[in-house]
Amino acid sequence: MHNDLDRILFNEDEIEARLDQLAAQITHDYQGLDLTVLAILNGSLIFMADLLRRIPLPLQLDCLRVKSYYMGMVSTGEISFESGLLPDLSGRHVLLLDDILDSGNTLAAVIARIREETSPKSLKCCVLLSKQKSRVKALEADYVGFKIQDEFVVGYGLDYQERYRNLPLLGILK
Ligand code: IMP
Ligand code: MG
Repeated sequence: MHNDLDRILFNEDEIEARLDQLAAQITHDYQGLDLTVLAILNGSLIFMADLLRRIPLPLQLDCLRVKSYYMGMVSTGEISFESGLLPDLSGRHVLLLDDILDSGNTLAAVIARIREETSPKSLKCCVLLSKQKSRVKALEADYVGFKIQDEFVVGYGLDYQERYRNLPLLGILK
């Protein structure tokens, strides 16, 4: 898999160091609050597992499967919810987790659905990566691991045609 990369964006040490900081910030901000983390799968799976084990709070975890449709490396903007019902988030402080904020379509759709169907006490977003670009949906995440340029990234949960999710680092394909 490494041979398919043009270059490494962030290696394992850099990811771990940033997760330590992000987790410390989230732990501080949600001290004493009823936190539910809602992770958007599949992309956030590895990020979720590594981040949450660094957060010593009595949080609840739920996952939502959302599929975003791609033509090669370009998003079609189409998304579909693969899991049925949302968990009951009323009265909870909800932190959405996703792998990457690109066009904003996915997070915007998830946020809209949460607001339609349930009433959390607060709703924030955390993404491992945020592409610095103008988005289809005006949206920024409250917690960002790394801000990156508008390039197609794989590894650490992020795929290209369902491959490379298990690459332990973040890189750009050849
Ligand atoms: P959106 O365009 O913000 O809706 O991003 C939707 C989803 O597309 C993300 O959750 C990722 O699963 C995927 N995605 C966006 N950019 C990349 C990328 O650079 N590499 C791999 N997947 C990506
Ligand atoms: Mg994907």
